[in-house]
Amino acid sequence: MEIRINSLAEIHEAAKAFISEMNDNTVFAFYGSMGAGKTTFTKAICECLGVEDVINSPTFAIVNEYRSDTGELIYHFDFYRIKKLEEVYDMGYEDYFYSGALCFIEWPELVEELLPENTIKVTIKENEDGTRSIIF
Ligand SMILES: Nc1ncnc2c1ncn2[C@@H]1O[C@H](COP(=O)(O)OP(=O)(O)OP(=O)(O)O)[C@@H](O)[C@H]1O
Ligand SMILES: [Mg+2]
Repeated sequence: MEIRINSLAEIHEAAKAFISEMNDNTVFAFYGSMGAGKTTFTKAICECLGVEDVINSPTFAIVNEYRSDTGELIYHFDFYRIKKLEEVYDMGYEDYFYSGALCFIEWPELVEELLPENTIKVTIKENEDGTRSIIF
């Protein structure tokens, strides 16, 4: 399936469309080159789920924890800066990935072998005209 985002003005509409396709899946891996829009789309999804905390890119923390308006935990990962898989073991990644809580992952290719089998793979692409395609 593909969701097309023509501009930032449509991001929440796109996030809602994505959320309606999530079903019972919990782990979502967002692939896409630098600046494709992974953080922006994840942020929009979280906002649509009622997260009120200010969401910053978790660039300096591997994982940020948010809470939805129904009290559910959401984990937002950014693995861009990891240098060794050992860092991911040390942070206790399994406790997050297999918690049943929603997990949104940026730079999943860096932890590819640790992703749960039922991870939903999502590709975010910046098109030549600046629009984005969310493909899953
Ligand atoms: N759907 C969109 N439409 C227009 N601009 C967008 C869209 N998504 C993101 N952008 C813009 O692109 C830039 C990069 O977005 P973002 O930080 O979300 O990318 P990223 O994939 O998380 O990058 P990184 O790999 O560095 O983590 C930002 O300036 C953002 O405003
Ligand atoms: Mg990002």
